[in-house]
Amino acid sequence: MMQDETRFGRGFTLWFTGLSGAGKTTISEIVERELQERDVKVEALDGDVVRTNLSKGLTFSREDRDTNVLRIGFVADLLTRNGVGVIVSAISPFKEPRDQVRRQIVDFIEIFVDAPLEVCAERDVKGLYKKAYAGEIPQFTGVSDPYEAPAAPELHIHTDQEEPHESAQRVIEKLEYFGYIRSSEVEAYN
Ligand code: ADX
Repeated sequence: MMQDETRFGRGFTLWFTGLSGAGKTTISEIVERELQERDVKVEALDGDVVRTNLSKGLTFSREDRDTNVLRIGFVADLLTRNGVGVIVSAISPFKEPRDQVRRQIVDFIEIFVDAPLEVCAERDVKGLYKKAYAGEIPQFTGVSDPYEAPAAPELHIHTDQEEPHESAQRVIEKLEYFGYIRSSEVEAYN
């Protein structure tokens, strides 16, 4: 695969967006390990974790979700500018704040982690869909709150059609293609 430009050593933000249970965290954890093995400096910002500290106390209202996303974007920008590979996984359901972050962070790669709502609800990893459908969780994304799909993500992954390792590999290939990391094919010759 040809690289358009070399950006080795530059920071970047991989922004995983998608429904709860689509596979954002699973894929991002594989990508994180792979990058660490390649000695790339990485930091992960996961919505679930961020909401226990940086965004503690925020609700799931539109306003608070936007605040959450913009806070994550702020930190991701600082890290990216300092040469870190940032891995964000957050539902980030609204297009406007996602695009705001895209404008802020030059080296921004949006990854749409996509699976049909029925598949996510069927997986129900955290048991939240059951509660949401029972009306116990208000404003639950996909059930009683909107999810605005990205119009032009750098990568669109269908997690109902491929395994997490395959998806992670496609993310790594994107980073190679954009020149942020060395291509493993090139490495094999060195
Ligand atoms: S975001 O909308 O602000 O980007 P974020 O990714 O931080 O969301 O947090 C989503 C996680 O919070 C979900 O994976 C789920 O575990 C939990 N959660 C609790 N209530 C809701 C809700 N109403 N809608 C979506 N996720 C919720």
